[in-house]
Amino acid sequence: MKLLVAGGAGFIGSNFVRHALTRWPGSSITVFDKLTYAGNLENLEGVLDDPRVTFVQGDICSPSSVSAAVPRHSHIINFAAESHVDRSILEPDAFVKTDIEGTRILLEAAKGANVERYLQVSTDEVYGHIPAPQRINEDGPLRPRSPYAASKAGGDLLVNAYHATYNVPTLVTRGANTYGPYQYPEKLIPLFITNCLEHLPLPVYGDGMQARDWLFVKDHCNGIGTVLERGQLGETYNLGASHEWLNRDVVDAILERSGADPSLVRHVHDRPGHDRRYALDTSKARALGWTIETTFEDGLAQTVDWYEDHRDWWKRIKEGSFKDFYAAQYDRRLAESLP
Ligand code: NAD
Ligand code: TYD
Repeated sequence: MKLLVAGGAGFIGSNFVRHALTRWPGSSITVFDKLTYAGNLENLEGVLDDPRVTFVQGDICSPSSVSAAVPRHSHIINFAAESHVDRSILEPDAFVKTDIEGTRILLEAAKGANVERYLQVSTDEVYGHIPAPQRINEDGPLRPRSPYAASKAGGDLLVNAYHATYNVPTLVTRGANTYGPYQYPEKLIPLFITNCLEHLPLPVYGDGMQARDWLFVKDHCNGIGTVLERGQLGETYNLGASHEWLNRDVVDAILERSGADPSLVRHVHDRPGHDRRYALDTSKARALGWTIETTFEDGLAQTVDWYEDHRDWWKRIKEGSFKDFYAAQYDRRLAESLP
């Protein structure tokens, strides 16, 4: 297998490259990544020396870079995206550009290159809020409510259109909230772990009663690998662990594992359009033989330990351009916060 991994220097992509080298030892892998604020070659430490891995710095929105990189690959996986809801609320433009237009440019190149399989990594957020006790399957309506979710839904629809119109051999996975090593510390779990380790406030949006289905990154990568191998072309597969937790309970678990002071918790103004609950029916992916191997308790313990052991990695990030985002997102909220 000759695999091109777009966005392979990000959180899930870099974990996937490691997974792929073990799962398909005879494969060669090209990591194609723009290295935006979220991309980091340190995420591929120990991997870039592997003779099976090549790194290309490139933008999926650039047709010339993409059409130079895609030929000679049998499989393409697209992780490349702008991926954070709060940033999409502050500045939606880059989301529409990368998550929709970048996807179209990759699909065009896949169409011309006769690839065997193109897999688009998408998200459960395209379904929007799911009222309890419902779980949504792949035929459920797309009701995205943030610019991030809307852009990802646009990407999914283009993928399906390229399958129907041009017979591009596509697959889509819609993963649940993912956590684990190498996650950029803007998302809930890594932000709160690192804030605990620095004795900084933990900004909980609204009442903290929102529910998410937490998927450990190794289980997510295994799900993507399973769909790439065994999924039916043209189909979409939900990937979730059915570990449904309220945000406030996740925060308590982080406080307990990191030994931080519970008085760090601050209730801040809610995120606009905040989805209350995500919940997936994953029977279609499980029918391919995919199973979840990590409990939320084990995954969270491994993740807290990883951030404790990799302070240099996240301190370098938090001391860079992250500071400007943090100030724009949290300074006012924290000034007006309640315990
Ligand atoms: P991330 O933000 O950590 O990484 C994104 C990567 O894409 C970075 O390496 C970045 O440099 C690269 N990139 C961004 N724009 C690019 C461009 N124009 N050209 C080339 N590379 C570009 O994201 P992540 O959390 O690893 O998410 C990966 C994928 O999985 C995304 O498509 C996301 O929508 C999806 N997803 C994420 C989650 C989650 O909880 N993190 C859950 C489900 C699905
Ligand atoms: P996040 O990790 O941003 O993922 P998503 O928005 O894609 O689900 O957020 C997870 C949950 O945590 C979500 O309900 C928003 C909430 N949250 C906070 O309460 N405070 C924060 O600072 C962040 C980043 C998220």
